[in-house]
Amino acid sequence: MAKHLADYGSAPVDFIRGEGSYLFDAKGKKYLDFQTGWCVGTVGWKNPEMAEAICAQAREGLHVPPWFRVQRHEDFATRLIELAPGKLNRVFRACSGSEAVEFAIKCARMTTGKSQIVTIGGVYHGHTYGAAALGNASTSGMEPNVTGFIKLPLPKTDTEAEQTITAFEDLLKSRKDIAAFMSEPVWTNAGCFIPSATFYSTIENLCRKYGVLLVMDEVATCMGRCGELFGSQLWGIEPDIITLGKSFTGGYATMAATLVTEHVFKKSTGVPYNSTFGWALQDLAAVEKNVELIIRDDLSKNAKEVGAYLLELLKPLESLKKIRQVRGVGMVLAIEFRLPISALIAAQCYRNGLVTEFTDASTLFLTPMLNLTKKEAEMGANIIKKACGA
Ligand SMILES: Cc1ncc(COP(=O)(O)O)c(C=O)c1O
Repeated sequence: MAKHLADYGSAPVDFIRGEGSYLFDAKGKKYLDFQTGWCVGTVGWKNPEMAEAICAQAREGLHVPPWFRVQRHEDFATRLIELAPGKLNRVFRACSGSEAVEFAIKCARMTTGKSQIVTIGGVYHGHTYGAAALGNASTSGMEPNVTGFIKLPLPKTDTEAEQTITAFEDLLKSRKDIAAFMSEPVWTNAGCFIPSATFYSTIENLCRKYGVLLVMDEVATCMGRCGELFGSQLWGIEPDIITLGKSFTGGYATMAATLVTEHVFKKSTGVPYNSTFGWALQDLAAVEKNVELIIRDDLSKNAKEVGAYLLELLKPLESLKKIRQVRGVGMVLAIEFRLPISALIAAQCYRNGLVTEFTDASTLFLTPMLNLTKKEAEMGANIIKKACGA
């Protein structure tokens, strides 16, 4: 029990170190990590190249406030722009996914001079006031909240996707105050729901037709997590704004980013951007190296292939009565139960040496390392199958 820490976790294990795809607890027990910090792990814990990059920058010793020019910031922003889809051309420095989302909301409103952001309900976008109001983080008892978010139902089937699209077009036809459509390329933390094949291209066409911005919160889907470097590339869309976090850092830094087009940047000059620690140089050294390794080792491809293999291993669980669906894309997977047993299954996995997560009472959530091996996928799948009684 925590005595002084406000946010002490409730999970049953205290981990003390990691290595590759494994975590170790205080008693030395080894666990295969299929959670990796919730969509964060990429190149493995205790990666020597990551450690060296961070130490090398620490030995240089430099921290400057955000209004000083640092060539390394500029160079990394250029690298991100080279990698990003579409016409994104400018980068805001941020420390967390929530902060990146705040930038995106502010830029969308500032660019269009309109207040309303249409989003998909039931999705988490962060804990700060704007991000919480956009998403489903509770601010109950802390009102007044940030307003100006219109929530459409999360579509779980092709028919529901059509209904959500129709509802969006109805809004666009009937209101003149819509700034943007903003959501995730894959609804990760809502339980890994994957949009229908044409959902986002249709949403993008509507955004273009009615002159509203398309904003993708890629905090959880970026840097290979979904089998493409950016989740937006799954759908061939070109967002006006993208947020990055989580796998962007591989768990080695508190760093995030918001990428915008030149048009959005030019219209967003009044958006406050001074962040004391935004891209602090030790964080930057880690993220630069993480991105370099993801590309050098083609970890998007590994995430696509080994993720598909893991999905194939788990799919037969659908023949069990208690399981509604097994779904996934790249290294984001979920097992949805017909009963509220996800915590029980996760606890059983812990006992057998596997760390998993759950997004709600009936959905187990898996986000392994991007460099997971097929052998590790088999080990993890076997533990999950056993926990499910297969
Ligand atoms: C889609 C999405 N956006 C934003 C956030 C907030 O990121 P952070 O926890 O780094 O503030 C999260 C975190 O879970 C997320 O999943």
